[in-house]
Order: sequence, then structure tokens, then C-alpha cells
Amino acid sequence: MQTLTITTPDDWHCHFRDGDTLTESVRASARVFRRALAMPNLTPPITTAKRALEYREQILTARPAGSDFEPVVTLYLTDATKREDIQIAAKQGIKAAKLYPAGVTTNSDSAVNSIETLYPLFEEMAQQGMLLLIHGEVNDPDIDIFDRESVFIDRHLQPIVKAFPELKIVFEHVSTSEAVDFVNGASENVAATITPQHLLLNRNDLLVGGLKPHNYCLPILKRSSHQVALQKAITTGSKKFFLGTDSAPHEQNQKESACGCAGCYTAPVAIELYAQVFESLDALDKLEGFASHHGADFYGLPRNTDKITLAKKTWTVPEKIPLNGGKILIPFFAGQSLSWQLQE
Ligand code: DOR
Ligand code: ZN
Repeated sequence: MQTLTITTPDDWHCHFRDGDTLTESVRASARVFRRALAMPNLTPPITTAKRALEYREQILTARPAGSDFEPVVTLYLTDATKREDIQIAAKQGIKAAKLYPAGVTTNSDSAVNSIETLYPLFEEMAQQGMLLLIHGEVNDPDIDIFDRESVFIDRHLQPIVKAFPELKIVFEHVSTSEAVDFVNGASENVAATITPQHLLLNRNDLLVGGLKPHNYCLPILKRSSHQVALQKAITTGSKKFFLGTDSAPHEQNQKESACGCAGCYTAPVAIELYAQVFESLDALDKLEGFASHHGADFYGLPRNTDKITLAKKTWTVPEKIPLNGGKILIPFFAGQSLSWQLQE
């Protein structure tokens, strides 16, 4: 059987949630990833270092027995975040803070209304060596949802990058050719995560032949030319692009709803799907850099030293994942057959 052994990967963008979902989401990530960056958009959001460190403990407690999985926690920026909050977080070892424009996605209502007023925080973050993680979409009602990422680049990202050349920025879950071009053209302090869904799917997979709520995420899937641009970005082997699943579990009834939540629960199938994409692009040799090296290098953290092995083997993704408490999650690619499987 064909196998592929790579350095144990990390996930630089993951939503674990809390409550009933946490044990399952941590299990799914700890299965394959050594580290995962835990996004702070809980209710209420994680706006202080104290809460971030408590959340870290919660995730550690939720790990399966014997797991050495390590969460990397972040701060959620709001209009009320102060320079001191950044200083305290940096002192406590928190590596990054997340910028959500208010209202742009799940649990972002209490986030940032005026990005420009955060400039003193960005200055502090640059001084502290803290990374700025950005959900790069505008939320103006008059901007078409398919254009919200490219407009964000022109209105906000260009000026931030220009004003703070020393600040390390991760443009999260890029979904457009404009974003790929921007990252490629920016300094080495600007990088991006790419999700499996944006590599594997385009908006036809969301909208043609019936609405597919489990393919609905934000940024929304774009037309196929953008998908191709993302695929091209990963096949170059550029260090600017790395793995971030944006694994975002929502209960089945909140996805299959008249007003469905955005988010794909990708963690249970993520490395397998990335392997499938890289193979389809004849670029399996680039998987390890993307999944296991580039992110750690950008964050200034040591690369993992252990390995995982994937086997070329057909298997079927479960239709559903029941949680303690009776709720149900539908994994991404539920019921579909995949061609690579982690050897556990
Ligand atoms: O699809 C998404 N789901 N995009 C986000 O930005 C947030 C995430 C979530 O928290 O559910
Ligand atoms: Zn996310």
C-alpha cells in the first residue's frame, strides 16, 4: 500500500467551541495535529489573557488520555481592547490576537467597528512580537458578499501593512485570487492560512443542485477561478501559505436551518482532504511544508519532530457525529469516500 509519512502537522486556525462540543472537537484535532490555534469567538468572546489561559486549560482537560496535543490560544480584539491588555497577554505568552470586523461572521458582533482606532494596539503588538490574525472581509451591507474579501484588502489590509511593516500578519482563510496576489506581493511578515473547503470547492458546490448548508462557510466559497488561484498558491511551495482548517462545528439543526450558521466541521477529515488536494495537483511533495513547517516557522515556534503516516486507502466519512448531550455534528464531506487515511 502506498503511504506518505510527514512531520506531524499543526492547524493554525481552529474553532473548538466549549460545552458539549469541546470534547469532540479536541478529539478530532488531537487525532492528527500536534498544535492547533484555538480561535477566540466563543460566547462571550475571549477578550482577556486570563480567559485565554482558562480556555487553554479547558482544552487541555478535554484531550483524550495520553495525548500531547497543545492548544495555542489567542485574544479577541474589540473596540474596548487596550494597549495594556496586549502587554499583559504578551507577558503571559499569548502569541496572537484576532481581528474580526464587527458582524462579519459567527460571534463577531462584539468585535471591531473601527479598525483605524486599533492602530495603537497594532503598534504594541508589533513591539511585543505578537501576531495579528485577520478575518479579512468588510461587512458593509452595500458590498456584495463575494467581494467582501477583496474590498477589505484595499480598504484595510493595505493600509495596515503599510503602517506596520514590522507586524506579523496572518490573512486567515484566504478565498480569492486577489488575496493570494496580495500575500505574494507583501513582505515576509505577511502570510495566509488556506482551508480544505476553499481548496476543494467553489460556489457551485454550495449552490448548484440544491443548497448545501454543510458547505456554507465564511468567507463564502467563490467562483472556480479563485479556487484555482488558491491551488496554485500551495503548489508553489511558498512559505507564505500554511494549513488552517477553520474547522467550525455547529449543531446539525443550526446548519440545516432557515438561517443556517457558517462553518464546516473539517477537523475529522482535514489532513486526508489536504492530501487529496495536493495529490490531485501532483504536488504531494509540497504537503509537508504547507502542513507542518511553514506555519511553525511563521509563528517562530519549533517545528514538530514526530511523524504521522497517511495510507492510500478508500474509506467513507461518517454521516454524523453524535455528541454527549444528544446533539449531532455533521462532518465535512459526510458520507463521501476519501482516498487517504491517517494510520492511527
Ligand atoms: O465559516 C466560518 N465559521 N467562518 C468564520 O469566520 C467563523 C466560523 C465559526 O466560528 O463558525
Ligand atoms: Zn475561523
